[in-house]
Amino acid sequence: MLIKNIKGLVQVREDKPKWIAGADMAQLPVIENSFLLVKDGLIADYGSMDNLPDYSADNVIDASGKFVFPSFVDSHTHLVFAATREEEFVYKIKGMSYEEIAAKGGGILNSARKLQNTSEDELFERTLVRANEIISYGTGAVEIKSGYGLTTKDELKMLRVAKRIGEETPLTVKTTFLGAHAVPKETTKEKYLDSVINEMIPAVAEEKLADYIDAFCEKGFFSPEETEKVMEAGKKYGLKPKIHANQLSISGGVQVGVKTKAISVDHLEAMDQQAIDVLKGTDVMPTLLPGAAFYLGTTYPPARDMLNAGLPLALATDYNPGSAPCGKMQFMLSLACIRMKMTPEEAINAATINTAYAMEVGDTHGTITKGKPANLFITKEIPSYAFIPYSFGSDVVETVILNGKLV
Ligand code: NIG
Ligand code: FE
Repeated sequence: MLIKNIKGLVQVREDKPKWIAGADMAQLPVIENSFLLVKDGLIADYGSMDNLPDYSADNVIDASGKFVFPSFVDSHTHLVFAATREEEFVYKIKGMSYEEIAAKGGGILNSARKLQNTSEDELFERTLVRANEIISYGTGAVEIKSGYGLTTKDELKMLRVAKRIGEETPLTVKTTFLGAHAVPKETTKEKYLDSVINEMIPAVAEEKLADYIDAFCEKGFFSPEETEKVMEAGKKYGLKPKIHANQLSISGGVQVGVKTKAISVDHLEAMDQQAIDVLKGTDVMPTLLPGAAFYLGTTYPPARDMLNAGLPLALATDYNPGSAPCGKMQFMLSLACIRMKMTPEEAINAATINTAYAMEVGDTHGTITKGKPANLFITKEIPSYAFIPYSFGSDVVETVILNGKLV
């Protein structure tokens, strides 16, 4: 496959940096008026149209006026769920807070009840619809969490469904065990944590169902001490920490992430200088989920302060039925720019190379690099790449290519 006359080939990097941080995030490498050759599923060559070699290809795509991007990488989602929660949406409109709805048995427990009563095949079919939806939005790799099962059987069911999405669609999938998402009504927190640590984690590891271990470190959910215990228990089974931290309050989750060497700490709507400082010089990717701040009406993460501190930032959707019912990375770019004052270049770096780091798919996704599988999308005709966050609400993705094949 040969793509010709590309208006801008975006995020071209040969030097394979592990991530882009601080002031460097303002730079986005783009080759204008360019070509890209895909051979045997891999990115074989690219460059300026002025130097296009005499390549023959079975499929030649004319991308005049269009941009070519590496696929978006969505490093934080809860894509597997049984049902949407519009009734809570209305409660929220009428003034109830996320915590109040959760305390009434809504929220995560509501999703768990519905998921427990849904068969594995049915759950897969419902998730598949969302998987195809995000593919059409330009996402090529996605992290998917459990956490709506809350029993061993149902957590395993969720993770099997998530893995099957990776097998039966062209998406690259990484999975995360989030047993410590909420405490079921019929048990105590102590008993539940005991089953997460001594029953669920070993069962998840036995079936090789997860890459990461997560916990909802938040007031009313799990404390930093409890989160740390769960992270350490997961690590014993080879699961790397990836933590829900500082969403509704300054929870101490960021510090636990640093202490347990998490791959990422996610949310960060509530940050203070201490939480920013503790991330400096670590390998932990701060991951912002502005869809949740938008939907819940909380404050947005202080992205500029974090960039000024030299930190890298990643940007993901948090796609879930309770706090972020949206899997569209393009809209996250808009929220990053409009509400967090990130520039289009910073937002694009955050949603590609930096999310690839946050789910360890940098060898296959996140940049246009020779030798990587062709995971990319071609836009419609648009005036500039900044048009993508600017035109919030429109669909800019026209053609999706995953693993070298047109989808
Ligand atoms: O990332 N914060 C915890 N978990 C999800 C929301 C879960 C839900 O309300 O269903 C989140 O926002
Ligand atoms: Fe989440």
